[in-house]
Amino acid sequence: MSTVTPKVEGKKRKLLHHDNINPHVRRVKYAVRGALAIRAEDLKTAIAKHGRNGFTFKKVVNCNIGNPQQLEQKPITFFRQVASLIDYPDLLLPENQSKVEALYPPDAIERARRLLKQIGAIGAYSHSQGIESIRKDVAEFIEERDGYPADPNLIFLTQGASQGIQNVLQLIISHSNVGVMIPIPQYPLYTATLALYNGKPVPYYLNEEQDWGLDIAELTSSLAQARSKGVEVRALVILNPGNPTGQCLSEQNMKEIIEFCSQEKLILLADEVYQANVYYPSQRPFHSFKKILKSMGPKYNDFELFSFHSISKGLIGECGRRGGYFECTGIDPKVVDELYKIASVNLCPNVHGQVMVDLMVKPPKSGDPSYELYEKECKNIYESLKRRSAKLCDVFNSMEGVTCNPAQGAMYLFPQIKLPQKAIEAAKSSGQKPDEFYCLAMLDATGVCVVPGSGFGQKDNTWHFRSTFLPPEELFDEFCGLLTKFHKEFMDKYRD
Ligand SMILES: Cc1ncc(COP(=O)(O)O)c(C=O)c1O
Repeated sequence: MSTVTPKVEGKKRKLLHHDNINPHVRRVKYAVRGALAIRAEDLKTAIAKHGRNGFTFKKVVNCNIGNPQQLEQKPITFFRQVASLIDYPDLLLPENQSKVEALYPPDAIERARRLLKQIGAIGAYSHSQGIESIRKDVAEFIEERDGYPADPNLIFLTQGASQGIQNVLQLIISHSNVGVMIPIPQYPLYTATLALYNGKPVPYYLNEEQDWGLDIAELTSSLAQARSKGVEVRALVILNPGNPTGQCLSEQNMKEIIEFCSQEKLILLADEVYQANVYYPSQRPFHSFKKILKSMGPKYNDFELFSFHSISKGLIGECGRRGGYFECTGIDPKVVDELYKIASVNLCPNVHGQVMVDLMVKPPKSGDPSYELYEKECKNIYESLKRRSAKLCDVFNSMEGVTCNPAQGAMYLFPQIKLPQKAIEAAKSSGQKPDEFYCLAMLDATGVCVVPGSGFGQKDNTWHFRSTFLPPEELFDEFCGLLTKFHKEFMDKYRD
């Protein structure tokens, strides 16, 4: 690779050009915001500029990313009440008391005062690991959820779960032959981060025929294969509930996974950002890996686990505020110190995100003035998500050549499409992957932007796409109708 500055056609080349940047950065792919999303942005701009002339749809619908508020999900009132008071603390001065009391419930005012006292100034850097009182609230939340103690000193507040996941992976990938086991299909943050830090993805396949279940035999064979090639496999990533696959793990399966990691000396990374998006809790409740691990007794005291959570998902959907946390369980204290050092280099996670984490883990409780509204808002969002997921799943399953597992959790469906050979050939001649070709055709015909399965990984010669079920419920029938009409026309055009 060239590191000099050659002249190109008489012009001096930039010192930094695409061929001489960090090659690991060049290798990163992130389908969720990839070609489809870029085309969707272009369409939005074209509609804004020229109106709907020539388009068969009213607007672009972003189903490519789990970003609920982009699709009109309303924020939780209590959270925004507290956040707004914290942002403009003069509202809490005595001269504004009567106006504020007319607008805000007393528990929102009380919480804002309490948080401000703990934080100091919202515009100042905080403790690099996150504000201590908020970490204490997170620890209490974990203890209440799991029934086992949590230590605020082992909790790091982060800029969304993404930052925590990246920091932990960076730490684990000590050389270019380190492997990390990731599910296929996976959330592309993992392959992107492994590319960036020059680690090796060690894929294990989820079983589509068994509701995207996870077989220990598959983990065993994937690990053996990687080790036989000399890869030093150090960690296993589990997404529970899964993205894009929506499966929720059973307690038994989780115990087997812990046993597998323990036998094989693997660090477990548990991505649990969808823990509140579980739609059939009586059959498939959410269990945290921390809880299951602790329930397995002292034999596993040395087990090494990182657990991640976020404000972006659940019923909150505060993606843009960038808040999250991770908890270290059984991690060497010196390693925790190194994580702290990395957190310090970034100064601190953004304080608005930290505030939202506090509200997520400590929402209004029964008897508080805001409790009723909070409960009602959460219930409405939850039930609507559940209804929309079932409806869209039925729509996909009613399409020719499409099969779709229901979402046990999360915010996505990942249907498989049996594409006609003619469509596969047409894709080839336009230089696209068949699933990308299908998704681009869908976008151009309907304005609906989804992500081709190839962005998440899929078994060879199978084609999928991922769609969120987040479009607003009042527009959902229209949305489903657009997809059905498109699919029929696509099949009519390419049927073999
Ligand atoms: C499985 C999973 N993990 C992590 C993230 C990152 O979320 P954030 O960084 O917004 O917390 C996402 C986002 O979609 C996700 O789906």
